[in-house]
Amino acid sequence: MDWVIDHKLLKEDDGYRLILYLDKGLTEFSNEFTDGNYKQNIKEQIKKYITKNFPNLKIKGINIMVGSILIASLPFSSSVVKAQSTVSGSYNSREGIYTVESGDTLYKIANHFNTTVYKLKDVNKLSNDLIYVGQRLQIPRDNSYIVRKGDALYKIAYKYNITIKQLKLYNKLNNDIIYIGQKIYIPQNNTINTIEQLPHGIYNINSNGEHVKRIQNALNVLGYSLNEDGDYNEKTKTVILDFQTQYDGLINDGIYGPRTMEYLKRAILTDHIIVDNPSDIKVLINKDNSLPSNYKPENLVVPNIDFTFKEFHEKKLMRKDAAIALENLFRAGKKENINLYGLSGYRSYNRQKYIFTSKVMREGMKKANEFSAKPGESEHQTGLAMDVTSNSVGYGLSQYFGETREGKWLRENAHKHGFIIRYPEGKEDITGYKYEPWHIRYIGKEVSTEIKDNNITLEEYFYKNY
Ligand code: DAL
Ligand code: ZN
Repeated sequence: MDWVIDHKLLKEDDGYRLILYLDKGLTEFSNEFTDGNYKQNIKEQIKKYITKNFPNLKIKGINIMVGSILIASLPFSSSVVKAQSTVSGSYNSREGIYTVESGDTLYKIANHFNTTVYKLKDVNKLSNDLIYVGQRLQIPRDNSYIVRKGDALYKIAYKYNITIKQLKLYNKLNNDIIYIGQKIYIPQNNTINTIEQLPHGIYNINSNGEHVKRIQNALNVLGYSLNEDGDYNEKTKTVILDFQTQYDGLINDGIYGPRTMEYLKRAILTDHIIVDNPSDIKVLINKDNSLPSNYKPENLVVPNIDFTFKEFHEKKLMRKDAAIALENLFRAGKKENINLYGLSGYRSYNRQKYIFTSKVMREGMKKANEFSAKPGESEHQTGLAMDVTSNSVGYGLSQYFGETREGKWLRENAHKHGFIIRYPEGKEDITGYKYEPWHIRYIGKEVSTEIKDNNITLEEYFYKNY
């Protein structure tokens, strides 16, 4: 069938959107497109077209154009082309490692292992789609498992080749009791590898070698920033010391030994629950629930508001819905002579990582994490948060903002436009952060109003704990 005269591929999520341009002469197509049978037939034709032209591409959706007019958008699952996407490399199921063979693409591998390119890139920290023969790729496993009748923790642990202890730590379970429908989070193999590879001996200043590298790597996973050079130098010792000061059960001696190892393992395991709804307007991001490292929201725009600085910067961005709501909020303020300024909105994972690790290396983990989120744990990465300031606090971020006319107005009115004060005073134990009168989060009017009316936090809202 020759009705397609041209096509275009646009990148979309972990696949592509295919734009098909139809012959203008086919006007009856658009008239009849709503007809069920005809539609089915067209779908078949499209499948053939895709199988023939793009056997290995993951097509997520299709736009059908006649000239410049879009006549239909179809969601499309590329399962139809799965049959052709075989991989020939070797897979070590115990380690969850696939070794790349010639002819492989990330799309093929993702299809084969029933995952997505998005997740593959995330767990392997790949910044682009290029892979090479011999490369060892961690195959991501399911993020979560829903408990079914007849399940037990030991069965789930066995299925995913981890220990019950690890599973309980990761899910913050105090006992072995699970219930049908419960969501059990499954740590990724690379998390398990990091903790399993921690050495058992005693390491101190001037130790060096592969084992020290593994210790440094584990510390970096937690948010420190050490050269993974295998040299137990002053800096490494300072970081170990900083880690130890966070726990009553550890002696603060800067020496790595079995107890420090145990606490490191625990810290890494309890740190890594990754949400599976990152783009949900109502997503809960906090110290227990983090975003995938390569998550970047779509539809980021610069809200039309006053900022404390003129030039373009990534931190001016917000998700479209949130940006419009923010414009309305600021406009409402202006009417009452309240002049608010945006200071910092969207932050990529990498920028948060830079900001956080710099703070940690300067101030230590505990202090840094009172105000600053670990990479993946910041609401700023959702594009739904904005730090707000005013002239009365010198356009900076200070708790005193909460005492100013502007800060008080914001606290009383943010919810009317779908925002909440995310880290209120007196709720530090619940949110995990010190009072931040400047940090507002878009969540939609319904939820923001419920939160405001009940004087609660987002955590309490989700756990219906009020
Ligand atoms: N200041 C908040 C907690 C953040 O870093 O996301
Ligand atoms: Zn903030």
